[in-house]
Amino acid sequence: MNLTLKIWRQIDAKDKGKMVDYKVTKISESMSFLEMMDVLNEQLVNSGEQPVAFDHDCREGICGMCSMYINGEAHGPDRGVTTCQLHMRMFKDGDTITIEPWRAGAFPVIKDLVVDRSAFDRIQHAGGYISVNTSGNTQDANSIPISKQAADTAMDAATCIGCGACVATCKNSSAMLFVGAKVSQYALLPQGQVEAADRVRNMVAQMDLEGFGNCTNTGACEVECPKGISLDNIARMNRELMKANI
Ligand code: SF4
Ligand code: FES
Repeated sequence: MNLTLKIWRQIDAKDKGKMVDYKVTKISESMSFLEMMDVLNEQLVNSGEQPVAFDHDCREGICGMCSMYINGEAHGPDRGVTTCQLHMRMFKDGDTITIEPWRAGAFPVIKDLVVDRSAFDRIQHAGGYISVNTSGNTQDANSIPISKQAADTAMDAATCIGCGACVATCKNSSAMLFVGAKVSQYALLPQGQVEAADRVRNMVAQMDLEGFGNCTNTGACEVECPKGISLDNIARMNRELMKANI
């Protein structure tokens, strides 16, 4: 496949940035999107130009690093996949592909396609954990009965990889799907009950402090989430917050 790429280039956080056109040739439909980006970068390095900066780590849908807005969709045109899992067979020979960084005030661009997602880390630090008694009297985990439904729902929430596609997709740049998933993974389990009230209050407060917007139930986040995190998690977070405040 021969393709035209329109890519957001930005030298640093202060630079205004602009779209730049590139051509790539002989792209195999079996390549992943990031492998196609590697081909472009090899081409740029060989011609003495700056390669395009983009985030990636695991390249297998686990780390949540590969944040790219492709043809106006977070993680591109496929569903239930991250950019590293997106195959070039989703595109046709001669296509023009637009590639931008996540768009959200709380995720400022650092360089090209790389954004600063440390706001998510600070939300996690505010309450996304449980404290464990390690005095030697710790209760064996298997001695606490948990219903299959609660365990499965908590596990589904725990599959959130913190990629930020929900924020990038939301017209309000809301982080409520992410925070809802993180609150839910503990809210459904007995281990999460001890700090439940503080957790939801602190995480929501930090989310607001970071400048993320509110949820208006459009549901775009759920559609673009590569891990299928459901809007039910936002409803659960709201219920948990109401409970904590009462
Ligand atoms: S909820 Fe989905 S889209 Fe949002 S950070 Fe988690 S995995 Fe990514
Ligand atoms: S590089 Fe890890 S999820 Fe894409």
